[in-house]
Amino acid sequence: MSDESVESAVEPVIALRGVRAELGSRTVLRGIDLTVHRGEVVAVLGANGSGKSTAIRSVIGQVPVSAGEIEIFGTPRGRFSDWKRVGYVPQRTTAAGGVPATVTEVVASGRLSRARFGVLRKADHEAIRRALALVGMADRAKDSVNALSGGQHQRVLIARALASEPELLIMDEPMAGVDLASQEVLAETLREQVGKGTTVLLVLHELGPLEPLIDRAVVLRDGCVLHDGPPPKAVGQHALPGHDHVHPHADPAAEPVRTGLLS
Ligand SMILES: Nc1ncnc2c1ncn2[C@@H]1O[C@H](COP(=O)(O)OP(=O)(O)O)[C@@H](O)[C@H]1O
Ligand SMILES: [Mg+2]
Repeated sequence: MSDESVESAVEPVIALRGVRAELGSRTVLRGIDLTVHRGEVVAVLGANGSGKSTAIRSVIGQVPVSAGEIEIFGTPRGRFSDWKRVGYVPQRTTAAGGVPATVTEVVASGRLSRARFGVLRKADHEAIRRALALVGMADRAKDSVNALSGGQHQRVLIARALASEPELLIMDEPMAGVDLASQEVLAETLREQVGKGTTVLLVLHELGPLEPLIDRAVVLRDGCVLHDGPPPKAVGQHALPGHDHVHPHADPAAEPVRTGLLS
């Protein structure tokens, strides 16, 4: 092992210390501490507007930080450049625009960081095919992304993040607006990634089918960390307001008790 890899084996994959961020005139993060170790699966939970997306966008450099420190793989974010080690799935928006790309084109864009001189070679095409197969979209490779359902679209975005075979996967509400069948595919995909040792930081509105995979939950409220520890057990599919009733209620009496952590 080189000195560098010895160091990266002990350093946290992500470390935020006292991170503050303002957007417009609003203070959105008020001193966030968040550490993710190698191989961990950490869920960021919290009510809408609590700062979840801003916190993870600060990690990947999409939000300027006014105070505190961020390190990725032990390197200060400002000096980190090895972005092929990181896969990012942004919070899905419904805004359509631009020329519709094919499923393969979208996934291929996630492989460019690995492609030498931007040219995709055999290994890259194989990684793209593998990523599409992982999310069960191999048969849609040539379709326009506009022809997909919300859940299928989300699977393509996750395949794009997986195409670079990242060590760290960051996902913002990967289950939002995703039908139950796609949720199950995504949970299985994530289980495989975690089994291979991939480190995962993801924003979730509810733990749902991913609950068994989550090692630790960080709950934000109004830009502060309210809880950092075991996932709040009572938070299930039904615990939060405004969730989509896409799944059948097996037993209406089995509604979990609200902890108040996420409201
Ligand atoms: N670009 C922006 N400009 C100003 N305020 C923003 C911007 N993006 C988000 N905010 C505000 O920051 C707060 C936190 O947003 P966000 O991180 O998206 O929360 P969450 O992901 O937890 O729903 C919200 O009040 C939101 O309105
Ligand atoms: Mg968000």
